[in-house]
This record gives sequence, structure tokens and C-alpha cells, in this order.
Amino acid sequence: MAITVEELIDLLNKDLALEYSAAIQYIQHAAVMSGAQYGDVIKELKIHANEEIGHAIILADQIDFLGGVPTVEVGAIKTSDDNVEMLEQDLAGEEGAIARYKLRIEQAEELKEFALAQQLRNILAVEQEHAMDLKQALGK
Ligand SMILES: [Fe+2]
Ligand SMILES: [Fe+2]
Repeated sequence: MAITVEELIDLLNKDLALEYSAAIQYIQHAAVMSGAQYGDVIKELKIHANEEIGHAIILADQIDFLGGVPTVEVGAIKTSDDNVEMLEQDLAGEEGAIARYKLRIEQAEELKEFALAQQLRNILAVEQEHAMDLKQALGK
């Protein structure tokens, strides 16, 4: 069953809401995370926050280009009073994003939206880097 542009716009808006929430989650986690040994991790989380905002800007522009209205809804945000649990929450978010963008690239190509597919590939590569950073921080 072929995807329609309208369905792709709806899915991209879900991705957009999750990029907003990822940025907020990283900002909050970086601020509340404590312990001298987490100094480098905290810096990394702040970099991730900025990159998620960059992804949101790309997705919003692409949704507009496709004729949709970019959402202002924000996805669910997770937090904890435990550093490791926060990093696990962040990693789960990244793994979800990787799975979603792999599918979204296929859907964009199915509709011959190759520029969108290229943008999504760039985002996917950054999400993979984020997941690797978090795995390293977690000693995985
Ligand atoms: Fe992202
Ligand atoms: Fe990410």
C-alpha cells in the first residue's frame, strides 16, 4: 500500500514533535545532571540539544515545502533524578528516532521526494552519532 503525501506530512509532524521534545529533554538533563565525572557528558548533551533544534528546523521547512503546516505540539519528555537513568532515556529516544527515520527515508523515496530523503539521511547520521555518544557514556 502506497503512502500519500498527506500521510507523510502527518508522520513528519510526529517526527517534528519528537525533535522538539528531544531538545527539551537534553536541555533539562544537561542542567540537572550532577557529578564531576559527568562534565564531558553534560557538554555532549548540550551539543545534542542544539542539533535536535537544527533537525526541527529542517523538518518544519520540509513539511512547509510539502504543503503541510508544521506542528507546534511537543512529544513526551522523560526525566529522572538518576544520571544513568536519564542517559538510558536519551538512548531510548535516539534508538526510536533511528528506526523512524530509516522508515521515513523509504517513504520519502517512494514518493520521489529525494531532497527530503537526503535531508532525512543527514538527520539519521546525526541520530546514530548521538546514540553512539550515549552508549559510550553508559559504558555499553
Ligand atoms: Fe534529532
Ligand atoms: Fe538525536
